[in-house]
Amino acid sequence: MKRRIPYALTLTLALLVSGLALAQQASPAKPSVPKGWSFTFPDGNQDTGKQLFIKMECYACHTIKLPKESLAARPGNVGPKLTGYSVLPKDYLASSIIKAHTVVAAPGYTVKEGKAAMGNYNHFLTVQELIDLVAFLKHGATTPAK
Ligand code: HEC
Repeated sequence: MKRRIPYALTLTLALLVSGLALAQQASPAKPSVPKGWSFTFPDGNQDTGKQLFIKMECYACHTIKLPKESLAARPGNVGPKLTGYSVLPKDYLASSIIKAHTVVAAPGYTVKEGKAAMGNYNHFLTVQELIDLVAFLKHGATTPAK
């Protein structure tokens, strides 16, 4: 009998410890955003961005006046003019490329019938290409909108 008490105690303790371990497994500590963290959109290469703008034929729908030239290859462009868009934040420009927008920053332009008409580029535009396109719109298109 004398020996049974410590044994029962050990068993209880062992159960308690494994129970605690199980409880910990069931609700692990949640990750949290580190203090001081914030997202800033990366800087890209505006020259590469300009080449992409031409290669991907963004100008087919968007006229853009640059300090020395104008990309407006096709008449009847359906999208807003992107001239002067350098005043907009990079995050806005990026989001308008990767997520359909029903609002537009260009003065006097309204999205037709409230439905975004720009195609979805997300399946073939790389992250780096997005960064460079934004750099082009941010730094290349410096002429004020007309
Ligand atoms: C088929 C025509 C078309 C093509 C091609 C096109 N867009 Fe658009 N884009 C639009 C339209 C239309 C809008 C206005 C929002 C809407 O209706 O989707 C727009 C909106 C935008 C906006 C946001 C304008 C604002 O004021 O919020 C940006 C920036 C933009 N496009 C960049 C691009 C880039 C970069 C490309 C090439 C990778 C491109 N677009 C290709 C039609 C086009």
